Amino acid sequence: MAGSAPPAAVRVAVLGCGNVGQALVELLVGDGAALAARSGVRLELGGVAVADPGRARAGVPPGLLTGDAKALVADPGIDLVVELIGGLEPARTLVEAALESGKAVVTANKALLAAHGAQLAGFAAEQGVDLLYEAAVGGAIPVIRPLRESLAGERVRRVMGIVNGTTNFILTLMADEGVGYEAALAEAQRLGLAERDPTADVEGHDAAAKAAILAGLAFRCDVVDADVPRQGITGVPAVDVAFASRLGYVVKLLAVAEAVGEGLAVSVHPALVPLGHPLASVRGSFNAVFIEGDACGELMLYGRGAGGRPTASAVLGDIIDAAHNRLTGGAAPAPARARARLVPAEDVSSAYYLDVEVADRPGVLAAVATVFGHHGVSIRSMEQQGMGDEARLVFLTHRARHGDVQATIAELLELSAVRHVGGVLRMVTDEDPAALGAGGGA
Ligand code: HSE
Repeated sequence: MAGSAPPAAVRVAVLGCGNVGQALVELLVGDGAALAARSGVRLELGGVAVADPGRARAGVPPGLLTGDAKALVADPGIDLVVELIGGLEPARTLVEAALESGKAVVTANKALLAAHGAQLAGFAAEQGVDLLYEAAVGGAIPVIRPLRESLAGERVRRVMGIVNGTTNFILTLMADEGVGYEAALAEAQRLGLAERDPTADVEGHDAAAKAAILAGLAFRCDVVDADVPRQGITGVPAVDVAFASRLGYVVKLLAVAEAVGEGLAVSVHPALVPLGHPLASVRGSFNAVFIEGDACGELMLYGRGAGGRPTASAVLGDIIDAAHNRLTGGAAPAPARARARLVPAEDVSSAYYLDVEVADRPGVLAAVATVFGHHGVSIRSMEQQGMGDEARLVFLTHRARHGDVQATIAELLELSAVRHVGGVLRMVTDEDPAALGAGGGA
């Protein structure tokens, strides 16, 4: 490199200075010379917008703090805006302002992208600038760029993600320790992994936003979080987690996007994953995204899905990419996207696990099995566990329409011998069409 000109500088504004913002500033300014040598671009921190600029932040030069995010975005000396505020407003207004003034934007804001991603991508394309968001799904895990670029030519069949570390931690604890949901949640809160109000994580809102983003990229269409049917983990009984384990499965909260005929099904739901499946090995607060495509076969991207430094690592990668593009006058590819043809939830099929508690007397199993038959739900196996005068019947089904399974449950509850239908959980099995193998399939 002797004699070569020093790389040109790109000036970066950071909006928001929570865990991720602070870690990012540390990575940006901590060893700027080494970063420039590694990346080939010189990044200069031009300002950090925070709600209370009077409060010092470790590692952030006080002279760079400002309370006026709007003015920082409008500053002609800023080339690139990093949005780490989160939520819809003021993030949306600030991102729009940055894009409209021709500045590249890097964001980790899944809620913003899942609600307004198509519109923001449109603004970025009009200006020929980058809108990059690797950190919005799976924290440090490179998954956005692989889907957008490495797999650009791939006919993706299915994407299944464990994209929420809080719920994966809770489910892992329930499986390992045999504890119930409430106790596992309390432990996650004690360790700082779950919020005091855990709704966004445990009810699947966070995962639904990430599912919408992944589905849009993998299937080249626009999906918003409101399109994603969502079931969280609050209703997963400990007894079903334990039963699943005896049967050779582990319960995971999955964000799933899969091709169904000419349409697309996207959902978030807890599911039984066979212990031999790569997703079963994703434990604790780790995340992973499992991708199945016609030519690539099966891929899994795994790592830390949250946390200041891991998330800042993905943000920094995007900043470097956008800075290179700014200096060379290009932008990352923005694939054409169509409106999604979403398949209604009741028409999506899956194998199911159903836990039916019944009076233990002659003829009950036959009556219950008849109800499955009425609705065209084919039983693959059944195991009975005695509970005094009652019994737990655990059914595993072949692939069945969600609507038919719901109708089965409704009719089962009309039988006098049926006391309760407990866990109703989808299963990842070899019967999934997407799992038939690369290039295979019916
Ligand atoms: N709350 C999320 C999780 C991290 O538990 O994975 C941010 O999306």
